[in-house]
Amino acid sequence: MDHIDPGWFAFWPAAISRHASDVDLMLAGLVALCVALTAPVFVLMVWFAHKYRSGVDVDRSGGPKRNLRLETAWAAIPFVLVLFFYVWAARAYWDLHEPPADALEISVIAKQWMWKFQHPGGQREINELHVPLGRAVKLSMTSQDVIHSLFFPSLRIKQDVLPERVSYEWFEADQPGVHHLFCAEFCGTSHSKMRGRIVVLEPEAYADWLAANEADLTLARRGAALFRSYGCSGCHMNSDVVRAPPLYGVYGRPVPLASGGFVTADEQYVRDSILMPLDKVVAGYRPIMPSFAGRIAEEDLVQLVAYVKSLATADDYRLPDTP
Ligand code: CUA
Repeated sequence: MDHIDPGWFAFWPAAISRHASDVDLMLAGLVALCVALTAPVFVLMVWFAHKYRSGVDVDRSGGPKRNLRLETAWAAIPFVLVLFFYVWAARAYWDLHEPPADALEISVIAKQWMWKFQHPGGQREINELHVPLGRAVKLSMTSQDVIHSLFFPSLRIKQDVLPERVSYEWFEADQPGVHHLFCAEFCGTSHSKMRGRIVVLEPEAYADWLAANEADLTLARRGAALFRSYGCSGCHMNSDVVRAPPLYGVYGRPVPLASGGFVTADEQYVRDSILMPLDKVVAGYRPIMPSFAGRIAEEDLVQLVAYVKSLATADDYRLPDTP
């Protein structure tokens, strides 16, 4: 199972999702259309150059005449045909930006020069990503240093991974197998070695893999422990001291800001609030939170965000018991 299937042609890897097949069809269609639009021009050019070459006795009377219908047709028909591809591609593009709500979320941290993946259950892996077949998987990605780009040739998706930002990509693989993953952004000396494998497993095999690699704590629970050790709980969880906004139920909702307006409490906002707390202060609170920029490891940050996220659906405020 650890053999990477190169597909029928190494430069055209197997397509293992509906999106990938769609991209292939689109590319083939676009190539066919370009050929159909360009070939007549070249064929006529060659033919006329031959037919009317100098020294040949042919009828050269009847100079240029305008044919408005013909001219309109050869502008309008290709325009409509090309527009069809625009609509098709735009739909595929939007699709890529709207992961299904029930997608399995896996965190990705890129660093020179490796890919770290963390599953919601706390399972961690490096340069290897195990995912279940037939289930939408959403990668929420950030970089610890420079700009990287996570590229899955057989899924036909690629997305930049940036420091201090959270970016996403999602897919739903429909074939089991092992395929390449690459960094597709030149990120330093060992950029070319920043590659790995995606292993698509049948749902039962994925469950077995999760069980075999069971972590002592889930991502959110690790975050909860950090929430105490970094001292966040002192202000955010202590109902006697109303110094900081409570975090229960905040994730995914609009938060009113002191500067007016609202911001949606997504991964980016929670992250920014830890690193740049004075940037978007919640209405009704004073800007007193110290910044944790440079004091908190990227991995810890991902876990803290996972914890805040888990509070969106928590029944109450209490910190879960952590060993
Ligand atoms: Cu990371 Cu190239």
